[in-house]
Amino acid sequence: MPETRHLEAGTPDATDAALDCLARGQAVALPSETVYGLFADATDPAAVARIYAIKGRPMFNPLIAHCCDAKMADAHGVLNDPAKVLAKAFWPGPLTLVVPRRFDGRPVCDLACAGLDTVGLRVPSQPALSEIIRRFGRPLAGPSANRSGRLSPTTAAAVAEDLGGQIEIIIDGGETRIGIESTIVACVDDTPRLLRPGGVPAEHIEAVLGETLAASDSHGTPQAPGMLASHYAPSAPLRLNATDVRPGEALLAFGTDIPDGYQNAVEVLNLSPRGDLVRAAANLFRYLRALDRHQPEAIAVMAVPETGLGVAIVDRLQRAAAPREDEVRR
Ligand code: TXA
Ligand code: MG
Repeated sequence: MPETRHLEAGTPDATDAALDCLARGQAVALPSETVYGLFADATDPAAVARIYAIKGRPMFNPLIAHCCDAKMADAHGVLNDPAKVLAKAFWPGPLTLVVPRRFDGRPVCDLACAGLDTVGLRVPSQPALSEIIRRFGRPLAGPSANRSGRLSPTTAAAVAEDLGGQIEIIIDGGETRIGIESTIVACVDDTPRLLRPGGVPAEHIEAVLGETLAASDSHGTPQAPGMLASHYAPSAPLRLNATDVRPGEALLAFGTDIPDGYQNAVEVLNLSPRGDLVRAAANLFRYLRALDRHQPEAIAVMAVPETGLGVAIVDRLQRAAAPREDEVRR
């Protein structure tokens, strides 16, 4: 593999190079509005296998198929009434709908769906990515562009850190706008279920549906293995809801009420001094990576309120803090 090339999102060169790679069954790193993804032709099992290999991803973990619009999504999955309502309200945007697959034409391949009879569909809003999907003409399978089990990248530099040298090109669109992955809702029967909190707050979804979202009924089977207990993990252990900073720790702060001992922290980063959860979500993974680079004893994390995007932020922090078994760290 030649050295990884970096190209600027939205330029003709970048778009042409991405389309060329995709046509050859290669995987390309591209920004979406949530996080950077590692994308390949969702209908081509060899191309999808390359994604799993590059990420070191467990095969049972299905990938999201990214479409340029609802029409393309509709050709690959069956959207029931609640799914249609949600698609209309939140696409393009950070919502993934898990729906029954369609098998006619050139379907999303089994490997991308990890053999399930459902498919995760999303219409991203990042213009350079939509343009590439539209011109490619088929959905792109795309997990976050990190090594499996590590933090999702929100900058091209973070992608290069994890996957540089393993992929031909990284397309740089700057920092991603939302910074946290999409919300995943399963619409496979009459009851929409929240599989993963994310970029669209659950309250917004409930307001549109006019009902409360049911929780996942998966009883421990990895319906959305982003739900594995230990996931999105930095190398340093995390200490949540910290009200002090201990020797050797780095501090991930939020708001103005900074705990004692911060002067001795190895490094301090504040997710949002103003207590803005949208900013905090956008900064979360980048700041965790930056603190981790100092190799602290632990990362002390201040409490973040569990409202709006705070629910997804706390979810990711809890997964990053969970005990790590080799099983789930791949
Ligand atoms: O914002 C995002 O969602 C980013 C960007 C790149 O689109 N993608 C992302 O992909 O976070 P990934 O692979 O890291 O997480 C996708 C999650 C996984 O937890 C997977 O298990 C779940 O979606 N998923 C995909 N298809 C599914 C299906 N048919 N049933 C249940 N869960 C599914
Ligand atoms: Mg991921």
